[in-house]
Amino acid sequence: MDVVSLETRRLVLREVVESDVDAVAWLLGEPRVMRYIEDGKPVSRADVERVVLPKVMGGGWWAARLKGAGASGAGAFVGWFELSEVGGGVAELGYRLHPDFWGCGYATEGAAALVEHGRAVGLRRIVAYAMAVNAGSRRVLEKVGLQYVRTFHEEWPDYIEGAEHGDVEYALDLGH
Ligand SMILES: CC(C)(COP(=O)(O)OP(=O)(O)OC[C@H]1O[C@@H](n2cnc3c(N)ncnc32)[C@H](O)[C@@H]1OP(=O)(O)O)[C@@H](O)C(=O)NCCC(=O)NCCS
Repeated sequence: MDVVSLETRRLVLREVVESDVDAVAWLLGEPRVMRYIEDGKPVSRADVERVVLPKVMGGGWWAARLKGAGASGAGAFVGWFELSEVGGGVAELGYRLHPDFWGCGYATEGAAALVEHGRAVGLRRIVAYAMAVNAGSRRVLEKVGLQYVRTFHEEWPDYIEGAEHGDVEYALDLGH
C-alpha cells in the first residue's frame, strides 16, 4: 500500500508520521478512547513515543484531520484509522477517534474510505475485531459492510469491564 493520503467528504487521512506525536498522545491519553482497547488504560506519552509510533509509522495507519481551509476547526486532528496488512491479501480495519469528535459520522466516513481503498489496491479480505460490548465500534463495522463472523474468548492479562462477553470478529470479502 503506497498511498500516503486519502480524502473523504470531510476528512483527510494521511499516514502517521513522527510529528503526529502530540496528536497521538492526546488521543491515546484519553481514558474514554482506551476503555475497550488493550488493557483498557490510557497510554503514557513516553509509551506513545517508544512503542506506539514506531509500530504505526510502518504503514497502514492514518491520522485523520478535518478538511475545509479557513473554516473553524479545519485541520483539527480527530483520530486515527488503521488498514494494516496481516498477510495473504488480508488487512485489519480499526479506528480510534477522540471523544470531541464522536457522534458526527466520522468513524463511518473514514472506515468506508479505507474499505474502498482496500478494494482499489486489490485486497482479498478485510477483518476487524472489537470487544463484544463495544456497540459503537460494531455499528461502524456493520455500516461499512463488514459482517459478524464469530465471538471468541481470549485470556487477557488485565480485566476490562465487559471482557466476560468476549471479542467479536467481523469480515468482508472483496472478491479478489
Ligand atoms: C467507536 C467509535 C470509533 C465511533 O465513532 P463515531 O465517529 O462516534 O461513529 P459514527 O458517528 O460514525 O457512528 C456510527 C454508528 O455507530 C453508532 N454509535 C456510535 N457510538 C455508539 C455507542 N457508544 N453505542 C451505540 N451506538 C453507537 C452511531 O449511532 C452510528 O449508528 P447510526 O448511524 O445507526 O446511528 C468511537 O466511539 C471511538 O473512537 N471509540 C474509542 C476507540 C474504540 O473503541 N475504537 C474501536 C476499537 S475496536
